[in-house]
Amino acid sequence: MRSVYSILLFLAAAAPLLADEQSDCLAQASTTNGVIYWTGQEVSLDKADSYGGIMAGSNGTTKGCMQLGQWDGQIRIGDQPHPVKDSRTILETNPVGQWASYDVSYILGYSHAVVCQDTVQKTLTGDSTNLWNVSGATCEDKNGYTCVGPVGPWGVHASAMSETSCWNCNPPNSFFSPVAGAAYTYPDDNGSVIAASSNALVCCVGNNCKWKNPKAGTTKAGTCTCNSGADKRDATPESKPKKRHLHGHGIHKVRGLSEVI
Ligand SMILES: *[C@@H]1O[C@H](CO)[C@@H](O)[C@H](O)[C@H]1NC(C)=O
Ligand SMILES: *[C@@H]1O[C@H](CO)[C@@H](O)[C@H](O)[C@H]1NC(C)=O
Ligand SMILES: *[C@@H]1O[C@H](CO)[C@@H](O)[C@H](O)[C@H]1NC(C)=O
Repeated sequence: MRSVYSILLFLAAAAPLLADEQSDCLAQASTTNGVIYWTGQEVSLDKADSYGGIMAGSNGTTKGCMQLGQWDGQIRIGDQPHPVKDSRTILETNPVGQWASYDVSYILGYSHAVVCQDTVQKTLTGDSTNLWNVSGATCEDKNGYTCVGPVGPWGVHASAMSETSCWNCNPPNSFFSPVAGAAYTYPDDNGSVIAASSNALVCCVGNNCKWKNPKAGTTKAGTCTCNSGADKRDATPESKPKKRHLHGHGIHKVRGLSEVI
């Protein structure tokens, strides 16, 4: 039987090994290579391209070192809750080029809390708040174990659209508002975007992550008064181009839907 002492020795030996694994991982980051070291809860993930299409055979888990290279796309966190309707937390990656950046997006919905830190700049995207545990806030639309983002990529429910509705700057509902500003909760909620300054990220999944993002809640009232033409609905969702990143534009993208990917 293992003594407490031998277990302690084992733990003492394991801790530096993990630290080495993390620093070896992060050391591989460069201006043309993004790397993520995953910590926290180990859950499954899929990659999706920047159009939102799941990439066949791209599944993995949130554990250890992930090489992104120059990959511009989405990491969908957790098990897909439904064969068709996806409402998972997304980490968007865009390691190189003029719009290089990362962000956590709850536009489709919330599966797990995710927070990532750029290890050089110490900037954060996402937040570790477990939204299910926020008192007074209830999920309006469950999809399996996830909560569906009410505004979606179009910023407003199709049923609630009118000529004067804001399609991308509406306030989030009470379930999502605690993290508005730290993660995308509506398409213009771009305070969560961090520049790909070092491309060396540590991401943590779940409730036991140490980082609380000071931006969390800062945009819970929405970001427009609906007076600006650009923030109003300018087409029906159906007639808008399909080619669209899940966040509105952020610093990646130029305003103008045809250019948004
Ligand atoms: C990826 O999916 C396949 C098929 O479902 C599964 O066998 C495999 O274990 C998954 N890999 C990871 C890392 O989850
Ligand atoms: C937080 O939420 C989870 C998932 O719904 C639940 O299992 C857990 O008991 C909650 N914790 C607290 C402290 O409320
Ligand atoms: C963020 O969105 C606002 C609209 O709410 C926009 O005015 C601003 O330019 C955007 N910021 C960036 C960096 O794209």
